[in-house]
Amino acid sequence: MPNIYPKFTDAELKEFSLSREALPRHVGVIMDGNGRWAKKRLLPRSAGHRAGMEALRGIVRFSHSAGIEALTVYAFSTENWKRPRTEIDALFALLEEYFHKEIDELDANGVRIRIIGDEAAFSGKLRDILEAAQNRTVKNTGLCFNIALNYGSRAEIVHAVNSLIESGAKSGEVTEEMFDSSLYTSGLPELDLIIRTAGEQRLSNFLLWQAAYAEFVFTDTLFPDFSREVYADCLCEFARRTRRFGKVL
Ligand code: FPP
Repeated sequence: MPNIYPKFTDAELKEFSLSREALPRHVGVIMDGNGRWAKKRLLPRSAGHRAGMEALRGIVRFSHSAGIEALTVYAFSTENWKRPRTEIDALFALLEEYFHKEIDELDANGVRIRIIGDEAAFSGKLRDILEAAQNRTVKNTGLCFNIALNYGSRAEIVHAVNSLIESGAKSGEVTEEMFDSSLYTSGLPELDLIIRTAGEQRLSNFLLWQAAYAEFVFTDTLFPDFSREVYADCLCEFARRTRRFGKVL
């Protein structure tokens, strides 16, 4: 039987110094530092990615329990094809393993999986696994768990422009809403928070359009060490920010 993860009560949230009203609706995570984590331990990079996968399981559960509506993680960028083939193959094998092991539990907890990015570049087997996970969870109404795979924000924007043209959009008539609906993230809540681990402070082609009003939180923690406590600290930092959206408060 898959484990069902109960939602946190207000008191449980408070144990992490969090309150329901101050939680982001949509969190993006740039999962960085798997390689450095492995190097420090004289392990192959693939071991860092495996440890990253374990950390990811934890933050998906925490997001679900905290009642966050959407979590989008950057798992493989369009630039990651430049990595050694052995590392790419290890990452794809991990993805297959992740879905094989987790899908029953994610589905039982009402998590909806969405892949954002161009799946066409993947092998038939991986594509079938990704399609099956998305189809199986399409009606779920809990956490929207979006995995960016072969994703690049510039490519997403170009893809959106082309689909608008194909749908017959006329010059001068395209609105921000129409453009937003043509992105892979269509229908998701506005991105409130982007977390990047491992001390880097850049977007690396992740959700450029969607990040327009997002808060950024950077942590030195390497992704495999990104525990629920570190995640909760990032959510607390978000809660402390004053968001003005261009207005005078
Ligand atoms: C960046 O760290 C991380 C990645 C390119 C891959 C992220 C993948 C996972 C967390 C594993 C599993 C994912 C899923 C969805 C099951 P890096 O290798 O660039 O680290 P470095 O900068 O320290 O070298």
